[in-house]
Amino acid sequence: MMPVSMVGRAGELAEFASAWATVAGGRPRTGCVVVTGAAGVGKSLLISAALDGLSPRPVTILTGTARVHTPAPYDWLAAALSGRDTTELPLPPDALAWLAQHPNAPRERYAPDALLRLAVRTVRALVGAGPAVLVVEDLHALDPASLNLVGELATAPDLPALLLVGSRPPEEAVSPRLVTATLARLSGAPGAIRQHLGPLGRPEVAAVLGQVYPGLPVPPAVVEALWRRTGGNPYRLVELLVAERGRRPEELVAEPVNLRLLVEPPPAPTAELTGREIEVLSCLAAGMSNKQVARSLGISVRTVTVHVSNLLRKTGSASRTEAALWAVRQQLTDPARHG
Ligand SMILES: Nc1ncnc2c1ncn2[C@@H]1O[C@H](COP(=O)(O)OP(=O)(O)OP(=O)(O)O)[C@@H](O)[C@H]1O
Ligand SMILES: [Mg+2]
Repeated sequence: MMPVSMVGRAGELAEFASAWATVAGGRPRTGCVVVTGAAGVGKSLLISAALDGLSPRPVTILTGTARVHTPAPYDWLAAALSGRDTTELPLPPDALAWLAQHPNAPRERYAPDALLRLAVRTVRALVGAGPAVLVVEDLHALDPASLNLVGELATAPDLPALLLVGSRPPEEAVSPRLVTATLARLSGAPGAIRQHLGPLGRPEVAAVLGQVYPGLPVPPAVVEALWRRTGGNPYRLVELLVAERGRRPEELVAEPVNLRLLVEPPPAPTAELTGREIEVLSCLAAGMSNKQVARSLGISVRTVTVHVSNLLRKTGSASRTEAALWAVRQQLTDPARHG
């Protein structure tokens, strides 16, 4: 893939910096930034850019991600433990071996809640006096035990760590309900910051083109055409630019026969929801509060309340959670996907 440096997202980066300042300064405390958004919208790039920019540097960084093909309990922790020396940790070695998924670990003989406590203690021991960063990539793909652990960590008292969590919307999860619940739990943690990434706008598309064609003028019509062809999804944009490498910017206006576009799924059913209502619904499905929705969409909390009550009526839901689950069943969020 062609290396493109991140464009836009300045507001989001500033929020990461201020969350880190709270965690890293003074009294030990836990912080959490949750980034949701469609596949390829730039969650991982944003999280890694934020991580690079943290000052002071974190003393410890624990990074885990889901093992998509053979998920097992506590995959996040096992990934975070892999390659680390755990012999000094004040925990029973057999429990550590099991949590780290060592192939010759003794068979499980702890009750689930005992394991959860051991997992939290393990993370506490690794974080020590901190300040630390816990990176949780692809939360939507995590196993239930890891989801529970992440929820526990976000609300752990006096853990000097900032959780950086990235997730696709819950309907892409194996268990949409669990992911919906976990996102709601994380969003409700004290001081949590929610970010829902939308597609790039025309100025950001223009900025990417500026990087790919340094020194060449990029006419507004080209920016417009690429913005439309990719829906502003940065992954698709970069993919398209790679596929069209060697052509001049003006040549990208004419739409070549593109199989990917032909097999694009039709738009999802909408139960006569407006575009704005669909956006609000996808925020609800991502576990956001009205205030967080308002900030993310740049509208007032009052307007959000109106959208939410219309949504409840139109979807026949008794609560926002029910509406969120309705959205999950209808697959009613951003159709932008990549494989
Ligand atoms: N803000 C951006 N500026 C420039 N390029 C971007 C930006 N965001 C994403 N990209 C490009 O899109 C690619 C995909 O982004 P990224 O992997 O961060 O998406 P993601 O949201 O984590 O997707 P997934 O849900 O599949 O994990 C990046 O490798 C990069 O090339
Ligand atoms: Mg990612």
